[in-house]
Amino acid sequence: METVKHTSNSFYSFFFFLSFLLLSMSQMPITKAKVHHHNFVVQATPVKRLCKIHKIITVNGMYPGPTLEVQNGDTLVVNVVNKARYNVTIHWHGVRQIRTGWADGPEFVTQCPIRPGKSYTYRFTIQGQEGTLWWHAHSSWLRATVYGALIIRPKEGESYPFPKPKHETALLLGEWWNKNPIDVVRQATRTGAAPNVSDAYTINGQPGDRYNCSGKDTLIVPIDSGETNLLRVVNSALNQQLFFKVAKHKFTVVGADASYVKPFTTSVLMLGPGQTTDVLITADQPPAKYYIAAQAYASAQGAPFDNTTTTAILEYKSASCSAKCNSTKPHMPRMPAFNDTATATSFTTKFRSPRKVQVPTKIDHNLFFAVGLGLNNCPRGVSRSRCQGPNGTRFTASMNNVSFVLPSNFSMLQAHQQGIPGVFTTDFPANPPRKFDYTGNVSRSLWQPITGTKVYRLKYGETVQLVLQGTSIFTAENHPIHLHGYDFYILAEGFGNFNPSRDTAKFNLVDPPLRNTASLPVGGWTVIRFVADNPGVWLLHCHLDVHITWGLAMAFVVENGVGELQTLEPPPADHPVC
Ligand code: C2O
Repeated sequence: METVKHTSNSFYSFFFFLSFLLLSMSQMPITKAKVHHHNFVVQATPVKRLCKIHKIITVNGMYPGPTLEVQNGDTLVVNVVNKARYNVTIHWHGVRQIRTGWADGPEFVTQCPIRPGKSYTYRFTIQGQEGTLWWHAHSSWLRATVYGALIIRPKEGESYPFPKPKHETALLLGEWWNKNPIDVVRQATRTGAAPNVSDAYTINGQPGDRYNCSGKDTLIVPIDSGETNLLRVVNSALNQQLFFKVAKHKFTVVGADASYVKPFTTSVLMLGPGQTTDVLITADQPPAKYYIAAQAYASAQGAPFDNTTTTAILEYKSASCSAKCNSTKPHMPRMPAFNDTATATSFTTKFRSPRKVQVPTKIDHNLFFAVGLGLNNCPRGVSRSRCQGPNGTRFTASMNNVSFVLPSNFSMLQAHQQGIPGVFTTDFPANPPRKFDYTGNVSRSLWQPITGTKVYRLKYGETVQLVLQGTSIFTAENHPIHLHGYDFYILAEGFGNFNPSRDTAKFNLVDPPLRNTASLPVGGWTVIRFVADNPGVWLLHCHLDVHITWGLAMAFVVENGVGELQTLEPPPADHPVC
């Protein structure tokens, strides 16, 4: 230990001396990474949507919540004060949280909830990430209204790898219920049935003029003829993948999940909840108003979904427009069909890293997770009213036949760090306990998973390949799979069952995209790789909140490595206990 310390100390003093030398030699002003302080007060706030006043949970009375704007390398210090009547936590979706797992946020995974009346300060540094991320509550379904954008710009003196846009606009796609979303999920948990679908989608909190009483509040995005702007599109909806278009305009995709991508053009985006996409848009059309629209990509056959369309308006500012186009209706884009998997696939498979990347090739853990829904038979002695799923069952969901259950007495990270037994077990299976035709006609005997709080252990620095395999248990559908604490490379995706002897040849080991949320194709598979270089407890889950509620999650425990830089920091003094 001593030697390590000494080596690193002298290494640091040398490094410090070197940087000091370089800085004093340069003529450039010295710019330091900044520390941003914010206060988030979580509170009930009245808002009027779809003709009625609703009391929703917000941050600082704002819906969506405040946009955080930082630069790569900056530190965020966010004091969250819970003045609501629910437990709350905030997750910084996509932030790597290197060594700062205590600030990640998922309730009972990395922290106990902030109880009503209490507070907690999240501290973390953005390291090597640029683009658009977002933050959201990670407790029950609170994120329906508790979310906002997190914009990360390049460091001082550095620039985007594309021409600087004239203006930037964050567009958060959301989902709105006329009922209290917490009541919606509680009712579903009680009855075992699927929760009610939403009543509207929103863009920056506004449904737009295709909904009742919503016209005059429709979001306007101004643009000047000829200029190129950056749209930072975030799918912050709870339970729905969304197609996104702007009438008569094309996008150049330049980033996703706070990583740059090799630019490509497209007229439609598809984002699963959790995903972000940065696009350039040029005002190259006749001055007028053009609808920006989002609606469902609903891949599960026969399952109910919210089939409404949210809109905002891209409005040309040019003089020639003001007289004429105020009287005319905006142009409406032709949206893909709700079940247009071909369009979704052709979009998701266009992503590449900007250049050749270092994909791990020596794999320490070759994992295969079967991911999907399930139906539990009604337990004996339980009233029929609690088994209102298909044919008197209760909905469930699982990974490798384990339906994930959150602990309630300790957070998993606390249990891991302090060696508290009985909070989780380390036997999450590397493979499905039984092999079957995952996307075929699955025998009813395989529909009922076991429950557990099981983790899969990784040593610091080990490499992981994970095949995510969708199943057709109950119904096949697209799942946005999100990993906390990491970005991963997406090597390939396809339909049907993953077949290593055939599909390994499809792996992109040259320039695969780096993401934090993968869109697992309906009835198909996705292969991802990452290096376990961030110690902590990291949730992997479907970002459809209805599926997390049913247990579509697991967690990785990543051990500390050697020395301070490979070790989880100690918990902050105000870290909530259960
Ligand atoms: Cu954006 Cu675990 O979530």
